[in-house]
Amino acid sequence: MRIVVIVLLFLCCGSALPALAEPVEIRENGCKECHRFSSHDKEFYKGPDLFFAGNKFYKNWLTKFLQSPMVIREVNVFSGSNVLREESKAIDSHVALKEDESERVTNFLMTLRLPNLELGKVDEEPLSKGERARAKVLFERTFGCISCHRALNLVGKVRGGVSGPSLINSGERLKPDWVFNWLKKPQQFMHEGRMPVYDLNEETTVLITKYILNIRKNP
Ligand code: HEC
Ligand code: HEC
Repeated sequence: MRIVVIVLLFLCCGSALPALAEPVEIRENGCKECHRFSSHDKEFYKGPDLFFAGNKFYKNWLTKFLQSPMVIREVNVFSGSNVLREESKAIDSHVALKEDESERVTNFLMTLRLPNLELGKVDEEPLSKGERARAKVLFERTFGCISCHRALNLVGKVRGGVSGPSLINSGERLKPDWVFNWLKKPQQFMHEGRMPVYDLNEETTVLITKYILNIRKNP
């Protein structure tokens, strides 16, 4: 009888159970040697922070990335201040996991979240032509985002700088809520970010978020 109750409790209240255990693949592949998994960790790592992976990435994208990683940052990532060290070259190889491993690791990474993000600010409404034009000026001229980020020009040609992550097809990768928070209050994520902190109001932040997530390369 007791067993039945425990099983029932487990089935119905699974979500109330303690956080998903960390899969062995994380240790076996040295993920923590290159990525920060906790916001309390103040050291500098080679790879981007993952302690808010559940806020940042779409699950499908993450599962695929871990099986066949692609380059997002042509200049390697250093979250520290020693940014442009000689050896900061593009990664040409990232650990690749098998399908089942990738699913386990993804499920775990998706549980890594920050508590106090502002949610639901970016609605689904596409930008109007006028808004797009305004966002483009902000992105390219006013704030010069393009000098550090890969994007596309009007005819779909790749342009832009490489010191930040590429924003091409970022709509498949990044969740709108996360991008909004990243732009509005980057201090929540980084102790020493390498991107300028802009004092954007909410409306502009939504506009730019939608603009970025729409930088789409036709297959
Ligand atoms: C030798 C260092 C190293 C190891 C080990 C490593 N990574 Fe990475 N990882 C990187 C670097 C550098 C990047 C940035 C690549 C890019 O942007 O092109 C990256 C990118 C990523 C990204 C995309 C992050 C983003 O913000 O775009 C994820 C997710 C990721 N790694 C997860 C993992 C997991 C999970 C493991 C272990 C299975 C792992 N990494 C092991 C260095 C490493
Ligand atoms: C001086 C260079 C620079 C400028 C200008 C800049 N960024 Fe960035 N941006 C970066 C770097 C570097 C990162 C990676 C931060 C990190 O992980 O340390 C980044 C990260 C991002 C990310 C997160 C992408 C990801 O996959 O992690 C977004 C979104 C973004 N920037 C958008 C913008 C927008 C919008 C603007 C203009 C309002 C802008 N950036 C201006 C350098 C820049």
